[in-house]
Order: sequence, then C-alpha cells, then structure tokens
Amino acid sequence: MNILITGGAGFIGSSLAKSLLKAKHDVSIIDHFSTFYNVERKKEQVNQIKRIGPVVVHEFDLLDEEETIVHFKNHKYDAVIHLAALPGVQPSLTNPHAYIDQDIKVTVNVLRASGISGVPHVLFGSSSSVYGNQDGPVSESFANGKVKSPYAAAKAGAESFCHAYQSLYGFKLTILRFFTVYGPWGRPDMAIPLFLTKLLNGESINIYGRHQSRDFTYIDDIVNGIALAFNQTGQSEIYNLGSGKPIRLEELIRLLMTYFPNASVVDETFRAGDVRHTWSNIEKAEKELGYVPEIGFEEGLRRTVEWAKKYHN
Ligand SMILES: NC(=O)c1ccc[n+]([C@@H]2O[C@H](COP(=O)([O-])OP(=O)(O)OC[C@H]3O[C@@H](n4cnc5c(N)ncnc54)[C@H](O)[C@@H]3O)[C@@H](O)[C@H]2O)c1
Repeated sequence: MNILITGGAGFIGSSLAKSLLKAKHDVSIIDHFSTFYNVERKKEQVNQIKRIGPVVVHEFDLLDEEETIVHFKNHKYDAVIHLAALPGVQPSLTNPHAYIDQDIKVTVNVLRASGISGVPHVLFGSSSSVYGNQDGPVSESFANGKVKSPYAAAKAGAESFCHAYQSLYGFKLTILRFFTVYGPWGRPDMAIPLFLTKLLNGESINIYGRHQSRDFTYIDDIVNGIALAFNQTGQSEIYNLGSGKPIRLEELIRLLMTYFPNASVVDETFRAGDVRHTWSNIEKAEKELGYVPEIGFEEGLRRTVEWAKKYHN
C-alpha cells in the first residue's frame, strides 16, 4: 500500500514509518519539523527511518490549506494516518489557540484534502484525553465531551470533524485513541522521558500526585495496533489502543528507583488540566483487530531506561 503518515518525523510517526517500511509498504511523510521540541531530534528520527528503507519526505505546514489540497491531488495515497498535531496538556492551558490551529484546523485540512483526492482510508491519531476524568476502564462509547484541557477539547473536536468528513466523502475512517505512549525515542516533554533526562543529569524529579495512574502503552504495541487498523473492515470505527493495565505514579517512581537509587523526588500539588486516571478497555481492538499488547510495563521501562542511557551519552 502507498501510505502517508502526517507527523511522520515525530515519536509515533517515525516508529510507524520504520515498521511499515519493514512490511514492504511505500511510505511518505509530511512534517514541518515543529519547534515544540528539539528539531534536531526529529531530523534524527527521519534519518533512522531512511536507514530502514526509502521514505519520501515532504516538508511543509499542513495548516496551509491550499498547499495541502494540491499535495493530495498530486499524490495517490491508499491510506493516510494523520498524526501531525501539537501535543501536550499543560502547554494547551496557556496557548489554547495554537491547539485550535494545529489539532483542529490541520485535521480539517487533511480530511478535506483526503476527501477531495479520493483517499480510501483515513486513520486519525486521537487520545485517551477525550474521556476526561473517569474511574475504571473506559470503552470507546464512554467519551462524553466532558474533557479537562484545551488539548483534549481540540482532540474531541477533531474527532467530530473526522465523522463529518467521513459522512461527506464516504472514505473509511478509523479513529485510534492512544493511551500515554512511551518507549525509546519517547517524546521528551512526557513524564517518563522527562524523568529519565533529569535523573541522568542528577536532577530531582517533580511529581504532581503519586496516586494518579496512567495506562502507559509501549510504542511497539501502538505501532502494531495502527498497522492492524489498516485492515479494519467497518466503514467508521473508533478503537482504544492502550495496555489495559494502569500504573500508579508511585509505582513508576518505585521502579525508577531500582535504576536510580539516589533519585530525589519532589511532591507537588495536582495540576489543573490533568486527569487523575487513565485506563483503557481494549476489548474492541482485541476482538476486531486482533490487537494484543505484548510489552509489560517493567520490560518496557527497562528498554526505555537502557535506550535513554545510551542516547544521553
Ligand atoms: N505520545 C502519546 O502518548 C500520545 C498519546 C495520545 C495521542 N497522541 C497523538 O499522537 C500523535 C503523534 O504524537 P507524538 O507523540 O508522536 O507527537 P510528536 O510531537 O512527536 O509528533 C508530531 C509531529 O507532527 C508534526 N507536525 C505538527 N504540526 C504540523 C503541521 N502543521 N504540519 C506538518 N507537520 C506537523 C511535528 O513536527 C511532529 O514531528 C499526535 O496527534 C498526538 O496528539 C500521542
């Protein structure tokens, strides 16, 4: 298949690109190398992809509606996985308009361009944040719009636009809700990579509520889930891609202390915008896609710590 990954220079996109090349797909990426985190890091991720196989890299801003539509008209993609976005919950509290641009307007541009150019299958990288704060495992139908941050509102809004354009153009739509993805090359603003950078530099780490829990999901499992979703048979489906096994932050700290026994941890108060718990019910993805997360948290963390030690050297 000829597959386009938007945001292909990013954490999830670059891992996916490598996996799709190994599976002998034709892979193109669109990315404008945003400055949300280190641009050199994204260039490095693209170099990693190029070592696996021939990838076509288009560097432009998907916020440019005309350029996006012209690009799609000039290329025939069998499937588009839309991962380009401005991520991060806390920065969305101080800069909400950027999230409307990057997470809603960019998504609308990709959806319209896909529809106009006749892309048969559009997949959208959504987030567990659309569930807001809920106790217990969440199934796909549990998203009720009661979100906790502008980032989450933008993701929920983008999902609505996905449904609107699916209905207008009739392409196959798959919405994938990712739950806190971690692993080698993890996004440097997220908790585990941030903690590891600080610990490797001998700095203390700040934690905003030890009783919070996250459904940490290893990058390879997410990439497998996305690859399986290319075979989805329904016309318009939503799937949770998580581990189904939430980890309390105090447990994360305990495990990190086994690698960094002298770690200093500073307890801070809970931050507005965050949710207290995430916990995926992954039965639908298991049953319909054959998705089975394989990397347990202790093993995933071990691999991530090992990678971080090498990378920081
Ligand atoms: N990492 C997670 O835990 C997680 C969890 C839930 C959802 N998601 C979603 O998954 C997707 C990928 O996340 P990630 O962690 O790989 O993030 P990332 O920041 O590493 O990757 C996003 C990529 O999109 C590119 N991009 C952003 N705006 C663009 C634009 N206007 N034009 C072209 N390129 C643009 C960036 O340069 C970047 O390379 C995002 O939609 C994110 O919201 C991620």
